[in-house]
Amino acid sequence: MKVGLIGLGRMGSGMAANLLRAGHDVTVSNRTPDRLRPLVEQGAHAAARIRDACGGDAVITMLADDRAVEDVVFGADGILDGLHDGAIHVSMSTTSVALSGRLATAHASARQGFVSAPVFGRPDAAAAGKLFIVAAGAPDAVAACQSLFDAMGQRTFRVGDDPKAANLVKLSGNFLIASVIEALGEAMALVRKAGIDPRQYLELLTSTLFTAPVYKTYGGQIAEQKFEPAGFAAPLGEKDIRLALAAAETLRVPMPLASLLHDRFLALLARGGDALDWSAIGQLAANDAGLGNPPGRARADA
Ligand SMILES: NC(=O)c1ccc[n+]([C@@H]2O[C@H](COP(=O)([O-])OP(=O)(O)OC[C@H]3O[C@@H](n4cnc5c(N)ncnc54)[C@H](OP(=O)(O)O)[C@@H]3O)[C@@H](O)[C@H]2O)c1
Repeated sequence: MKVGLIGLGRMGSGMAANLLRAGHDVTVSNRTPDRLRPLVEQGAHAAARIRDACGGDAVITMLADDRAVEDVVFGADGILDGLHDGAIHVSMSTTSVALSGRLATAHASARQGFVSAPVFGRPDAAAAGKLFIVAAGAPDAVAACQSLFDAMGQRTFRVGDDPKAANLVKLSGNFLIASVIEALGEAMALVRKAGIDPRQYLELLTSTLFTAPVYKTYGGQIAEQKFEPAGFAAPLGEKDIRLALAAAETLRVPMPLASLLHDRFLALLARGGDALDWSAIGQLAANDAGLGNPPGRARADA
């Protein structure tokens, strides 16, 4: 397909490379132009303006947050102005449920398609084409994007015709992951304070009852107290829990654990943790127990 990809951050760079590897004709765009060069060297066209990435069958956005997607879609010479009749905007960032609703309405008014397709998987999975993609939108539009999803992911889950559903599923998943990180942080603080080796403890957990990748990945980071380089940066983690709470408020679903997690992220960011991985909230329980450096300070001391 002839496709644009806007947003060459930790995730978007690997996704664009996999689209190229699969033989798609890819035009890339990024706010900071330095990030275009590696993709151009792999065969991508560089777009000087956002609308120059919108001349094909579809344009993918993989941007940080709602604000970034709004700027790129609704701004002058943005996606809404640049996309042809019948072409599809595929929004793969983790954004709010409300924004997905606004995008669906705006693209429909402009006779453009809209598919929401956020992903599970960190930058290593994006680079390896192993993302799990959660897609929602009109069935013909989702089907038209399948070859793009196959290039970037190992499996696509369709969750309905309303794009908002994909965002809600993604946000609920990140809420669950953050809950695991917090629980691991508390459990490891407990055993560490008693002098038990956290690596041995994690080996026991992950080879018996807690074998899921999420325990291995994040348990390893907490046991090693290694939160840099960030694969998924702490401000994006805060954003996701905030958006999960916003969706919960709209639907009137109390989520006390999500409120607690949001405070954990605020504490991490207040202590200077912006550049750390979101799993650094798993260090806060240890700090509360008088163990080790705060996550931000550990970095400064390193
Ligand atoms: N990292 C993960 O493990 C992971 C996993 C699943 C989902 N996600 C989601 O995927 C999305 C991208 O994450 P990431 O880790 O790739 O983030 P990232 O490395 O911080 O990249 C963010 C991208 O957004 C662009 N951007 C930010 N604000 C902008 C604005 N106002 N206007 C135009 N462009 C803007 C950045 O451009 P510049 O290069 O100019 O800064 C960059 O291309 C996020 O929604 C995140 O929640 C991430």
